[in-house]
Amino acid sequence: MANSCDVVILGASGFTGKYVVREALKFLNTTSSSTSPLITLGLAGRNPTKLSETLKWALSNSEFQNPDSISIIKADVSDPSSLKDLCSKTKLILNCVGPFRLYGEPVVSACVEAGCDYFDICGEPEFMEKMEAVYHQKAVENGSLLISACGFDSVPAELGFMFNSKQWEAPAVPNRVEAYLSLESDKRIVGNFGTLESAVLGIANVDQLQALRKSRPRRARPVIPGPPPSKGPLIEHQKNVGLWAVKLPSADAIVVRRTLSTLTENPHGLSGVSESDEHIEKRKNFWQAVKPAHFGVKLGSKSLFSIFRYIMVGVNIGLLGSLNIGRWLILKFPSIFTLGWFRKKGPSEEEVESATFKMWFVGQGYSSANLASQEANSKPDTEIITRVMGPEIGYLTTPIILLQCALIVLSQRKNLPKGGVFPPGIVFGPTDLQERLQQNGISFDVISKNALSS
Ligand SMILES: NC(=O)c1ccc[n+]([C@@H]2O[C@H](COP(=O)([O-])OP(=O)(O)OC[C@H]3O[C@@H](n4cnc5c(N)ncnc54)[C@H](OP(=O)(O)O)[C@@H]3O)[C@@H](O)[C@H]2O)c1
Repeated sequence: MANSCDVVILGASGFTGKYVVREALKFLNTTSSSTSPLITLGLAGRNPTKLSETLKWALSNSEFQNPDSISIIKADVSDPSSLKDLCSKTKLILNCVGPFRLYGEPVVSACVEAGCDYFDICGEPEFMEKMEAVYHQKAVENGSLLISACGFDSVPAELGFMFNSKQWEAPAVPNRVEAYLSLESDKRIVGNFGTLESAVLGIANVDQLQALRKSRPRRARPVIPGPPPSKGPLIEHQKNVGLWAVKLPSADAIVVRRTLSTLTENPHGLSGVSESDEHIEKRKNFWQAVKPAHFGVKLGSKSLFSIFRYIMVGVNIGLLGSLNIGRWLILKFPSIFTLGWFRKKGPSEEEVESATFKMWFVGQGYSSANLASQEANSKPDTEIITRVMGPEIGYLTTPIILLQCALIVLSQRKNLPKGGVFPPGIVFGPTDLQERLQQNGISFDVISKNALSS
């Protein structure tokens, strides 16, 4: 294999891609004392000059100063032969080229054909579900592991849900977990245009997602003790975490549901390609401790005024995204129609550095499973609150997660499924991903366990 790379970052010159490159440099192994499995790295994209500038930027922001183990590779997603060539050079592609509904499928297809592994930072449910429908079987056969949403969408939600669920010790069982996401910063909180474009195109094509779901066999649903939670008010005041909150239509809840469906179909999780007996035991014990529950995500703020702003931006994206002229307007003038939330040139480095997130998981359930089955409408009597917390979501937390997923593949491939299209939680749940994230600045904490008054 000429110029082979352990990992290739495709779309490395993009706004998110360059932060992924910077994170990768932290783990690039060039000394005999390092134990990192990442020894050679490829930066791929359609413009080699931009890729070289990205590398220069990343090196100037890093202690790593030896670019010899890094290759620049020209690859255009509209040129299948360049993708075939790319896949022949690596074991794993980290795809940062979005919107994924526009650019993702040729990359997935090339990886499946070549039998190489593929992770991305997609937050687009239709893309993820379509890739599963079209490529899962072939990916299983060819030994290609394809995992979307290996970024802030949706790993904190997946691992955060599981972390909360594991705190329910028998005979206690959860019924629902509501996540409250709070974004904090001394400066403005800003997202790059690529994320806005992906969201707007998702809204424009919402009918296609419905049609895709109707055309697919129904997935297994987990049995959850007690009745499903009611919808509740549009704006909620969640006193326990001190936030006002409104429903966030992100991919997180959908991704968590896909993991729970896969778990229902495979109660011991997914077998690794050549697992040790010890790992089989560990995997089974892990999934035994995860109890299914209803799951939703809300965007929260201490200020009610901010919630009204969130609603206004959501309504703008929803309304404008559903009309041709509206899409043109919001994508032409993103700052105006999102009240400064999204910018064509993205956030400044200072804005990225100053932002943080907290995601509170408020789990409610029963002190005993019997209580849930006693009467049809029995109310939860127990509440467990946990929290996941970390740096800025899109350009710091996302690269941290993507890189740790990649390092797990490089060091523990035998413990992971041979191939297939999966959400991240069902694959990485039983690995050491949570510990790795904790070592890299993303914390998981138990906040409280309380009895609820009736
Ligand atoms: N999961 C998460 O939490 C999370 C976080 C951040 C971003 N994202 C997602 O990541 C995606 C990228 O966002 P972004 O803000 O980084 O966008 P961006 O700055 O526009 O980057 C897009 C990248 O795609 C490349 N590209 C476009 N067309 C290509 C082609 N034909 N062949 C090869 N490369 C091509 C661009 O190359 P050039 O540099 O040559 O233009 C650029 O590198 C979006 O879908 C966004 O929603 C997700």
